[in-house]
Amino acid sequence: MTAKIIDGKEIAQQIRGELAAEIQHLKTRGIVPGLGVILVGEDPASRSYVTAKEKACHEIGIYSNDNRLPATTTQAELLALISAMNADPKINGILVQLPLPKHLNESEVLLAINPDKDVDGFHPLNVGRMVVGEKAFLPCTPHGVLQMMARSGVKIEGAHAVIVGRSNIVGKPLANLLMAKGKMANATVTVCHTKTKDIGYYTRQADIVIAAAGRPNTVTADMIKDGAVVIDVGVNRVEDATKKAGFRLVGDVDFEACKAKASLITPVPGGVGPMTITMLLYNTVESAKRANGL
Ligand code: GUN
Repeated sequence: MTAKIIDGKEIAQQIRGELAAEIQHLKTRGIVPGLGVILVGEDPASRSYVTAKEKACHEIGIYSNDNRLPATTTQAELLALISAMNADPKINGILVQLPLPKHLNESEVLLAINPDKDVDGFHPLNVGRMVVGEKAFLPCTPHGVLQMMARSGVKIEGAHAVIVGRSNIVGKPLANLLMAKGKMANATVTVCHTKTKDIGYYTRQADIVIAAAGRPNTVTADMIKDGAVVIDVGVNRVEDATKKAGFRLVGDVDFEACKAKASLITPVPGGVGPMTITMLLYNTVESAKRANGL
C-alpha cells in the first residue's frame, strides 16, 4: 500500500480561511482578537516558531503584541509583563514560548497566565478541565492532530491509537483527548516512552501511530502494520551540508519507508507544524469571543 499524504498546509489554510471570515465578522462588531507573544532568549528554533506565529496573526487579522526579551530577563520582569498582559483588554491570548532559559521557573510562569487567556492550554486549570472533559482551551498541537485526522476522514472511534512520547505539550494531552468520550475521540490509547521495553510490539498493533518523541527514526516501517495511519509530530534539525542553512528538518518517522506501508501519513515539514499555529489562532479567536460574551 502507498499512503495518501495528509497535507497539513492545505488543511491549515482551510481552517485559517474560516477564521479570517469570522474575524472580519467580529471586526464589524468592534472586536479585534489580540495575541500577546513572549519569547525569552535567542534559541533559533523558538525564534522561527515565534516569527511564524506573528506572521500568521497578521495574515488573518489578529492583533499581535510581540515581545522579544533578552536571555538575561529575570523571573520578576517576566511575571510583570504577564501581569500587564492579563490586565490588557486588547490581549485575548498570551503565549510564552517554551522552553524558557534554565534560570526561569516555567511552572510559576504558566501559573501566572490568566487561565481565560491561556491559549496554549498549558495552565494547570485548563489541563484539569481538559482531563475531566469540561470546556477548556485545548493545547494546540494535540488539537491540530485531531483536526487533521478528522478532516482527512480518519475513524478515531474504536481505533487503537499508540502514542510514542509522553511530553506535557503533546503525548499526555493527546492521550487524554483521544480517550475522551465524544467526537474526534473514543479511541483505545496506549502511550509508549523512553522506558517502554519494545515500542514496536505496541505500534504494530496500532490503527493510528502518533510519533512525538523528538528523535529521528523513532518509528520505522517494521514498527507499523499495513494500512496504519501515521502522524509525525517530530521536528528535528539534522545536519545537511547541501542546504544553505546547513540543516534540514525531519520528523520522528522514517517517512519514505513508512509511506510504502501506511494508508495515510503526515510529512515533515508541511504536516502537523502548520496545524499547531492554526489552532493557536483558533483559540485566540475563541478567547476574544468569550471575552465579549459571544
Ligand atoms: N514550544 C514548542 N511548542 C510550543 C507551543 O505549542 N507553545 C509554546 N508556548 N511553546 C512551545
